[in-house]
Amino acid sequence: MSDQPLKVALLGCGVVGSQVARLLDEHADDMAARVGAPLTLVGALVRDASKPRDGVRDELLVTDPEVLWERSPDIVVELMGGIEPARTLLLEAMARGASVVTANKALLAQDGAALHDAAAEHHVDLAFEASVAGAIPLLRPLKESLAGDRVLRVLGIVNGTTNYILTRMDEAGADYADALREAQELGYAEADPTADVEGHDAAAKAAILAGLAFHSRVTLDDVACQGISGVTASDVEAARAMGHVIKLLAVAESTDGGTAIGVRVNPAMVPRTHPLASVREAFNAVFVEAEAAGDLMFYGRGAGGAPTASAVLGDLVALARNRVLGARDPGESTYAALPISDPGRATARHYLSIDVDDRAGVLARVASCFAEHGVSIETLRQDGRGDDAVLVVVTHAAAGDDISATVAALRGVDAVRDVPTVMQVIGD
Ligand SMILES: NC(=O)c1ccc[n+]([C@@H]2O[C@H](COP(=O)([O-])OP(=O)(O)OC[C@H]3O[C@@H](n4cnc5c(N)ncnc54)[C@H](OP(=O)(O)O)[C@@H]3O)[C@@H](O)[C@H]2O)c1
Repeated sequence: MSDQPLKVALLGCGVVGSQVARLLDEHADDMAARVGAPLTLVGALVRDASKPRDGVRDELLVTDPEVLWERSPDIVVELMGGIEPARTLLLEAMARGASVVTANKALLAQDGAALHDAAAEHHVDLAFEASVAGAIPLLRPLKESLAGDRVLRVLGIVNGTTNYILTRMDEAGADYADALREAQELGYAEADPTADVEGHDAAAKAAILAGLAFHSRVTLDDVACQGISGVTASDVEAARAMGHVIKLLAVAESTDGGTAIGVRVNPAMVPRTHPLASVREAFNAVFVEAEAAGDLMFYGRGAGGAPTASAVLGDLVALARNRVLGARDPGESTYAALPISDPGRATARHYLSIDVDDRAGVLARVASCFAEHGVSIETLRQDGRGDDAVLVVVTHAAAGDDISATVAALRGVDAVRDVPTVMQVIGD
């Protein structure tokens, strides 16, 4: 064991940062033994140094990054969030020779390339396990444990807020507005829930997962994104009637015979027999389909101070150990450089509910709309009669563009009053 401590600086000491500081202190002896040298917290950058923070000594809190740099940290842990000043500070830390750990999915999804390039240029490590699905060990398994396999598809429930809302809609029959309000009251949703409910947070995580799974650079702009604000109680009821549950899924998949990547976030119907269907409330899970390994599922807490700090500390120990051994993590792998496939050509089974007048010939007219757009029907059922007649159609795998064209054609049919629900359906 080296006597020479490794110096750790925090950028941010809020929900996650304060837990990292606490656990660094509480687990100090174990971490020193695992790293081969003690870890010493030399400072934490915050906006307001006068705000008391449990477990962090006042003299460690600084508001000027120059004060931190003067303390020459070996490892800088960024837990501020947002794009700037986090981006500039991380680049500065790496230029000064520090390895960095970050949980900042927004920055990684928007400008991860700048961070990876800086890490390579300055021969330091960049680790970001906590940026996707909080505590769940996921990125290292994708990068390292599956390095000899071929990932085919990643399906993730990676946003706890939306999963909580959808769980309440499914289990309590709540409508969207009530479930959102309840999530806000319990602290699962922000006062402005846009980033969560419109899928932006999940899209950032989808970009990170897609890049790692398919050895390519993927950014937020590559992700086709639809949130859950349009999901209604009747959609949830329709899913239930089919033995399905609605989940907001982040999907990254190999397309076009392995020559491209499809990456999207959207609500989808998941069969209740699928492992993802049992992921309730604010929990996260990521289901990975790999060529040799088969199906894998990673499950746990996707947020919260201590759970997220666990993932941050795992990275911190790994990078500290590298420092002691004079080693480095493998770094970014983008050799495949696969393009992003057209989201409109992504194929999936689809569920459609179609409100129709209950009269002769309607069924044939509806069926022909599907046939004219090359969409093949797997099942078709009529629920109700007269004014309440609803046709419930599940298609075979069809491209999103063809489904949209079919819906436009259906809306032009006299006897079709509305097509209230169109949703992807995933298989068992
Ligand atoms: N919270 C979670 O459950 C969770 C889960 C996974 C990933 N993450 C990621 O972890 C990161 C941190 O999240 P958090 O929930 O811990 O955030 P937070 O509670 O808002 O804490 C942010 C910290 O950064 C400091 N900070 C922000 N802007 C600053 C600036 N311009 N200059 C100096 N200090 C600044 C704040 O200082 P003050 O305290 O003085 O305001 C605060 O200490 C984010 O990237 C987030 O996406 C969070």
